[in-house]
Amino acid sequence: MVFNSEVSCNGDQVDVAADTTSMQCSSSGMLEDKQLVSKVILEGLEIEEPPVDEMAVAEKTAGIARLMSSYVQHLQHSSAYHLGYPLNLDYDFSSLAPFLNFSLNNAGDPFAKVNSSVNSRQFEVAVLHWFANLWELQRDQFWGYITTGGTEGNLYGLLVGRELFPNGILYASYDSHYSVFKAAKMYRVKCIRIATAVSGEMNYADLKSRLLQNTDCPAIIIANIGTTFKGAVDDIDSIISTLEKCGFHNRHYIHCDGALSGMMMPFMKQAPKVSFQKPIGSISVSGHKFLGCPMPCGVVITRLEHAGVLSTDIEYIASRDSTITGSRNGHAPIFLWYTLSKKGYKGLVKQVEMCLANARYLEVLLKQVGVSSACNTLSNTVVFERPKDERFVCRWQLACEGNLAHVVVMPNVTLPKLAVFVEELAQRRRDWYQDKGLICAPCLALDVGKENCCCNLHGKKLRVPKM
Ligand SMILES: Cc1ncc(COP(=O)(O)O)c(C=O)c1O
Repeated sequence: MVFNSEVSCNGDQVDVAADTTSMQCSSSGMLEDKQLVSKVILEGLEIEEPPVDEMAVAEKTAGIARLMSSYVQHLQHSSAYHLGYPLNLDYDFSSLAPFLNFSLNNAGDPFAKVNSSVNSRQFEVAVLHWFANLWELQRDQFWGYITTGGTEGNLYGLLVGRELFPNGILYASYDSHYSVFKAAKMYRVKCIRIATAVSGEMNYADLKSRLLQNTDCPAIIIANIGTTFKGAVDDIDSIISTLEKCGFHNRHYIHCDGALSGMMMPFMKQAPKVSFQKPIGSISVSGHKFLGCPMPCGVVITRLEHAGVLSTDIEYIASRDSTITGSRNGHAPIFLWYTLSKKGYKGLVKQVEMCLANARYLEVLLKQVGVSSACNTLSNTVVFERPKDERFVCRWQLACEGNLAHVVVMPNVTLPKLAVFVEELAQRRRDWYQDKGLICAPCLALDVGKENCCCNLHGKKLRVPKM
């Protein structure tokens, strides 16, 4: 079996790997309910019992090897065209391959004694120390663990908030990640959505008015350290001062959701500090985003004094259960430790600076060809006019929402790749929008602001820098 490595769409049909795994998109690009399972085509991948006959065994073994190598090629190709989601694909972890022969499980509290020693707890605690130091919490004052990703970090942080304030109300901006609203549903916490600016940042006046309508209940707040779609950063200081002014002193819990930008802000000059020196309760990041671990993982850190609210002694594991999941990935701490040790603080500064500069380059390049686009100052996410053709969206694996799409400029996204992308987009747009020699693109002033809109009305006033 050979996988078709070209990511292509045929009308509504999206063939991710044409003769194997494909899913169908509706015209909006969304998977429809009925399609979720039934349209994953497994031709050639159904698992069959191994043959008994020696010849057949050899044939099957060779077939599996061919299939695996073909799938590796398919993944290499897909990775080369991956622009829409925040995955740092710039890594080489081949030296860690021997660890795949061990069943590493860090179940339980990373700091508590356990019976099983096939784990990577020393690496986990070393990584946690690094993060506690980054976010300015002393070693004897923090608790945390390596999670499955940003979602689990949010689930953990919000559960701590809910346990500390059982009658608390959750305040989250409209631009918060969907896991936040899922957490509110799971924990049956009342959730109030706060308006956002065009940039995606929380509207503090709206936060204030919502808090004042609910002064009887403590506040549990999600501060976005980089929103999912626009990469906007909520200002922790403004959130704290709003809480204080509204009478919530010592009656609030702030969880900072830093899935992507939480790993970038500390390495930017002049970025506001995300720090436990401020009255926040917890911070979480994803490990597979900016840090570039090949498996989904993340880190959550809280104050030691809060960790007790979720901690129970469990005889079966001879340890304490203080985490959201039971069994925990023991490989992830080794990968995180390895990448942090190799890059160090200086390496991360360099990668962050490069991504920010390349994101600005993409924004300007898009405007130069007449595509409305915007990029927040502290972000490597560039939002722009949603391509009209779903095939183009699939080819570059873009994330879309409403009228916009985005590219997240990660360390593996090079300038030549961005140039090819913009050139291809510009060419395709001529087919979509050209009318009697003129390009009539949609107005996106409401989505990106007039100052970033290239439509025929606003574009005339736009000053696009030369490069
Ligand atoms: C702001 C934000 N929070 C949380 C998450 C969830 O992270 P994960 O995919 O690691 O669970 C994301 C993912 O994109 C995100 O952007």
